Amino acid sequence: MTTSTPIEHITVLGAGTMGSQIAAVCALSGYRTTLVDIAEEPLEQAKAQLRARLERDVAKSRRTAEDVAATWQRLQFATDRDAVVATTDFVIEAAVEDLAIKRQIFASLDAVAPAHAILATNSSNIVSSQIASATHRADKVCNMHFFNPALVMKCVEIVPHDGTSPQTMERTRALAESLGKEVVQLNREIPGFVANRLLNALRKEALNLIDQDIASPADIDKAARDALGHPMGPFELMDLVGLDVVYLIRLAEYEQTKEESSLPHPQIKQLYEAGRFGRKSGRGWYDYASA
Ligand code: 3HC
Repeated sequence: MTTSTPIEHITVLGAGTMGSQIAAVCALSGYRTTLVDIAEEPLEQAKAQLRARLERDVAKSRRTAEDVAATWQRLQFATDRDAVVATTDFVIEAAVEDLAIKRQIFASLDAVAPAHAILATNSSNIVSSQIASATHRADKVCNMHFFNPALVMKCVEIVPHDGTSPQTMERTRALAESLGKEVVQLNREIPGFVANRLLNALRKEALNLIDQDIASPADIDKAARDALGHPMGPFELMDLVGLDVVYLIRLAEYEQTKEESSLPHPQIKQLYEAGRFGRKSGRGWYDYASA
């Protein structure tokens, strides 16, 4: 096995919103894929959500029943991470945004993954240099960042750290392209990468406007949609991505910058602490219970 060993088996770690759809994208594109989580329950949830999503695609003639059946043949669900990773060519980690946990995960992956395997993180804010040093293969570690919902959004950001090898970048890029994604490749790492930094600038201003009671979240969202042509306004988007994710991303950025401006906005903290995570919990900026 060498660094040019073809990618046949992909492991996606973490069966949350991102991980489950990333795994589906890989399986739909023809890769044998295993979605791994530490518990059965999130795997069962992911399976049910993906089943509903793919059945809807068949009902709407976006995919054939044969394609979907073949995808299920390629997509496995497992809790035994070490056994799965031992036969994998490429890992995409989509676990919680917590540096200590990611470092632990990467150290364990490094111990069991074949020498040629690339270990990528889907983290949107934790740059891979912070994680690569937990492994003995820093040259094969990078960020490969998908967007929510991963089945729909076309972009993948690929971000090297100083020690990522050009071969790793090439292989990661080729994989993303084979998944039908458009690649935005950064020259060097920065927390938030490109898209989230752009999004954050808009979000900051939206929060600033509600702080001053200039307009309601609904009207600000309307302005983003109907004046700027964005598919969703910043508050709707936070509800889609999850206020828990938004909150943890801010904390992860603060850990890296130590700048107060990185900390979560007080209203985001309040929603997070109240368990109002957005669509996934039925309530965030908006109420989905009656929807
Ligand atoms: N999962 C998979 N597919 C979905 C989906 C989901 N959660 N939501 C919608 N879709 C697909 C479905 O195919 C749906 O068609 P269907 O209802 O006939 O099955 C189709 O998209 C259209 O959906 P809707 O009619 O419900 O609504 P929209 O036309 O507004 O599309 C959207 C939904 C694609 C989510 C669109 O609103 C959008 O692009 N929003 C912006 C998303 C965005 O900015 N994402 C980036 C977030 S930042 C991020 O991810 C960074 C990370 O680090 C946190």
